[in-house]
Amino acid sequence: MCGIVGYVGGRPCRDLLIAGLEKLEYRGYDSAGISLLADGQVETVRAVGNLANLRAAIGLDADQPVSGEGAVAVAMPPATIGLGHTRWATHGRVTEENAHPHGDCTERIHIVLNGIVENHTELRRELVDAGHAFTSETDAEIVAHMIEKHYEGDLTEAVRSAFAELRGHYAFVAMHAEHPNTLVAARQECPLIVGIGQGETFVASAIPAFLAQTRNVLGLKNAEIVTVTPDGARIVDVDGTPVDREIEEVTWDEEAAEKGGYPTFMLKEIHEQPAAVAETITDRLPGSDHVDLSEVDLSPEFVRDLRRIVIVACGTSYHAGLIGRYAIEQWARIPVEMDIASEYRYREPVVGPDDLVIGITQSGETADTLAAMRLARERGARVMAVTNIMGSQATRDADTVLYTRAGLEMGVAATKTFTAQTAAMYLLGLWLAQSRNAWPQEKMTEVIAELKSIPSKIGTTIESVEERVRAIARSHQDRPFFLYLGRNIGLPVCLEGALKMKEISYIPTDAYAAGEMKHGPIALLDESTPVVCVATNSPILDKMLSNMAEVRARGADVIAIATEGNAQVAEVADQTLHVPATDWVVQPILAVVPLQLLAYHVARLNGLNVDQPRNLAKTVTVE
Ligand code: G6P
Repeated sequence: MCGIVGYVGGRPCRDLLIAGLEKLEYRGYDSAGISLLADGQVETVRAVGNLANLRAAIGLDADQPVSGEGAVAVAMPPATIGLGHTRWATHGRVTEENAHPHGDCTERIHIVLNGIVENHTELRRELVDAGHAFTSETDAEIVAHMIEKHYEGDLTEAVRSAFAELRGHYAFVAMHAEHPNTLVAARQECPLIVGIGQGETFVASAIPAFLAQTRNVLGLKNAEIVTVTPDGARIVDVDGTPVDREIEEVTWDEEAAEKGGYPTFMLKEIHEQPAAVAETITDRLPGSDHVDLSEVDLSPEFVRDLRRIVIVACGTSYHAGLIGRYAIEQWARIPVEMDIASEYRYREPVVGPDDLVIGITQSGETADTLAAMRLARERGARVMAVTNIMGSQATRDADTVLYTRAGLEMGVAATKTFTAQTAAMYLLGLWLAQSRNAWPQEKMTEVIAELKSIPSKIGTTIESVEERVRAIARSHQDRPFFLYLGRNIGLPVCLEGALKMKEISYIPTDAYAAGEMKHGPIALLDESTPVVCVATNSPILDKMLSNMAEVRARGADVIAIATEGNAQVAEVADQTLHVPATDWVVQPILAVVPLQLLAYHVARLNGLNVDQPRNLAKTVTVE
């Protein structure tokens, strides 16, 4: 999740690029850089840390406004074409060398990239064999060298040929010293938008980067290449066939633009889940049969002899941990104990050197989770942090870190960080199984294939259920209470769905293991109770169906989440939402999506501010 911006036009562009990056900083902020082209020379400034550090490296004061006008550019005379990037590291450590823009061998071609080039290892090998010299550890630098390899005087052609050899999900913008009036950009699965101004053109990963300058935009689709000049943009597809695209006018204000046209950050972030999961899993599943978690610093002996795993977390992260427990136990056959961090830290836990303690915290700053992790470490356990934020306290307190890569989450109610955490737990479960030879290879291969399909299946889920969820929300928006029931790996999905509903709609909810319903919650059921049942395919679906029949017998309304292709569930439900089929252990990452949307639409129909629910904070640093 990086931010990219490019400009070509008549104005000095350094400050325009910085202003654009400031609007994209939420996408990534561990390093940043710009390249400017003037007088046939490309000049680059890069800095580790947030944009303040880049501004300092350029010589801009912290308080100096970025006007977009007049200021002296790094290159002389002032450059009127350039690229900017704000990085959220995926390949390669957070260093100045790994910050973008990246150049080719001649430093005449520069690129900025968002996303991941999956076949970077093979391509780098081929390029090195052909004599290319690399200066960074990134997958992005490959793209500059690929363009160099194909360049014969036509930048668009070189980008098109390079693009055809890349695999993965990415968007990039390229600039060449011999073409002072042209940028060429391309996209595959990652966003890229062109902004058409008066005698100037922008290209960026999101509209806010240039909204202050122009409202006329051209959206790029997958496998399209755009050549951008001060006079406009020309799009071709990967075969070189010209593509006609209408210029659209954006009518959003700045705030709406930051939400990408969505009415709220929460809805935008729900829709960002395919990308968040793709970023989290793609390069960790480099082939069809193994998981690469080489970043995890645990010795093979420790992993082999590991006696037990303890997972500690709070809130939504706790629910991701619960799903992780099922996956680890099912695949790696290691016993997993799960605890709420604020309980664990005060209960004198029995923990020691044979234990791996995993703290899951998207912010990396939740006080109780940090305290639980520190306590375990003091008692000799190895501690892993699963977090979304580089440099957060959890990363400093842990022995090793597994990052989710969801990008910054603005909505208080966690959504995309949850699915990214769940994906990370699946990776960990598979990696432990692989490291301990605990599971047959063909099963590993099957689940890996399923995991790889999850980003697009989340997209399909959102598309196929959203309208219906809104209708269901409308029919239940005034209900005083929602009950959620599930079994086994469906239970954490219920807990998360119920938490979302109560925290943003303020409607009381309860989530229960369906088998426990007869021991109490059944007393709550009458005609006014919507009961959300997670009834996706699993070895215990029959049990769940019996529970649903019991609920129905009390006159309550059953809203079921079922797997596509299953007809039985709809027979015992009043309303059914289907999610695509996948491995049953992986199914929760899809099943939770309709529940996020249900909570969202109930809250919105009731006129509530879902991004900032009352009494809640995004990060809870008090104990
Ligand atoms: C707060 C947030 C929740 C989050 C929890 C844990 O309560 O409102 O959305 O799940 O903290 O946060 P963490 O950053 O540790 O994942």
